[in-house]
Amino acid sequence: MNRFDQRTVLITGAGSGIGRAASARFAAEGARLVLVDRNEQGLNETAATLPEGTEVTLRPVDVSDENAVNALVDEVIASHGTIHALVNNAGIAGGDYAPVTGNSTETWQAILAVNLMGPMFFIRAVGKHMQAKGAGAIVNTASVAGIRSGAGGNAYSASKAGVISLTKTAACDLGQYNVRVNAVCPGLIETGMTKPVFDYARSNEKEHKLGSRCELRRYGRPEEIAAAMAFLASDDASYITGQALAVDGGNTASLNLPGMKH
Ligand SMILES: NC(=O)c1ccc[n+]([C@@H]2O[C@H](COP(=O)([O-])OP(=O)(O)OC[C@H]3O[C@@H](n4cnc5c(N)ncnc54)[C@H](O)[C@@H]3O)[C@@H](O)[C@H]2O)c1
Repeated sequence: MNRFDQRTVLITGAGSGIGRAASARFAAEGARLVLVDRNEQGLNETAATLPEGTEVTLRPVDVSDENAVNALVDEVIASHGTIHALVNNAGIAGGDYAPVTGNSTETWQAILAVNLMGPMFFIRAVGKHMQAKGAGAIVNTASVAGIRSGAGGNAYSASKAGVISLTKTAACDLGQYNVRVNAVCPGLIETGMTKPVFDYARSNEKEHKLGSRCELRRYGRPEEIAAAMAFLASDDASYITGQALAVDGGNTASLNLPGMKH
């Protein structure tokens, strides 16, 4: 499939994990890439994994820096003419699992700044251009943590619930301009963010527990999230907007623990 031939796709958080897998997937489908991450070394490593001939621009930008985001979007519009698809994927965990009475204001602000304000800055800046063009697709990385408790700390979960809400409100604002906005809600995926969880489980003979709460009885791979992102950003999803698609092995589908019924 070459669903992104001649199309410019901007991906944030492209220096690791899901963003790196998304970069590979969109590149494999012909996209011209603009990869954004605050970790420049990570961006270089991602670029090194891309097929030869991929047209790629790397930009070490902090998504929570409004001025830097606006300047980057202006630059990309000037150089590429337009942005066909935006993948708002950069995110941080943090805040541990401290109870709601325990997290500091600084923790909340830091997480909301990256996970919620970052996507908002990009949607605001890129959405204007997509609106003027009368076309565009935006995919936000939310999380199962934005749907239910138990998959991250309070601030992280609230930030991801905010991303789901932003997805729906932006979709309603931009739908009349043929700009679609959707979210993916990954379950447990092995990436840089979840490395401590995987390391802990592996070094304590608990690897079998990773992903065991999913109906598919396993954790997910970054490529499986990238595939859903590419679908939602492509014309195959031309009548889908305002949706938050759980890509979680069935984790949020059931109130039962897997295996309770069978
Ligand atoms: N891994 C999971 O199990 C999981 C589950 C649900 C949702 N998610 C979400 O997936 C997205 C990608 O995370 P991942 O799991 O690939 O983790 P990761 O840590 O491997 O990748 C996140 C990337 O975002 C970048 N980043 C962080 N803050 C940034 C900022 N302020 N500006 C620019 N770049 C920044 C990091 O440098 C890193 O390269 C995140 O939004 C995360 O919340 C992950």
